[in-house]
Amino acid sequence: MKRIVVSAIAQQESAFSERLIDWQKQHGRHQLPWQQTRDAYRIWLSEIMLQQTQVTTVIPYYHRFLQQFPDVRALAAAPVDQVMSQWAGLGYYTRARNLHRCAQAIVQQHGGVFPVDVESLAALPGIGLSTAAAITAFAYGTRAAILDGNVKRVLCRAFGIEGFPGQPAVERQLWQLAASLLPEQDIEAYTQGLMDLGATLCTRTRPRCETCPMQARCIAHETNRTSELPMRRPKKATPEKRSYCWSNDRR
Ligand code: ADE
Repeated sequence: MKRIVVSAIAQQESAFSERLIDWQKQHGRHQLPWQQTRDAYRIWLSEIMLQQTQVTTVIPYYHRFLQQFPDVRALAAAPVDQVMSQWAGLGYYTRARNLHRCAQAIVQQHGGVFPVDVESLAALPGIGLSTAAAITAFAYGTRAAILDGNVKRVLCRAFGIEGFPGQPAVERQLWQLAASLLPEQDIEAYTQGLMDLGATLCTRTRPRCETCPMQARCIAHETNRTSELPMRRPKKATPEKRSYCWSNDRR
């Protein structure tokens, strides 16, 4: 009995990835500048820029940045002020400082070559586990799970994951799910598909479920809870207000 349940879940998971890959190939984004390369430096740069900024804003910055710093050695050798001035306007400036530190670490500790494994990448400044996984998937075709805010939303809805995704137990569950969904092949299309679905259809407000490839197997859609999932941060209990009135009157 247990084995039947496990295999039913595995089937659902492979159906999810297969559908996503097919959809990405037909309807996903294919012309983004960082999709035209396998150069880990360029992919890393795009992923850092895209961490908190939208694609349309990133594109001109990405091109200008690469003109000035065409490879990791050029970036590592540049004065930090030059890096900051290329970043000016993109916001979240810690990203630029970490970018520069990371380039220097790659030159000094890795001979100017981006590490190929997720753990070594994630140990570098400004690269979290999800960004490290995206870089290895796009640059090297490695099977590695991404889990940024958009992906959390897609998974919470499609699989009906309850609880606030910022809670450690929920986040652990989401990482496990993300890992179990990884396809054997086509990791690039799959990873891009998750990003594309989250950015274009499975948006935070007004998701476009009518054109979503997951509609028929999406728990949030089936149970009419797309506006409830992912669940919001639980409100802190309102502190009880107590007032004391001291009086020196002695009656
Ligand atoms: N957001 C984060 N990474 C991205 C990518 N590679 N393409 C489009 N949007 C993204």
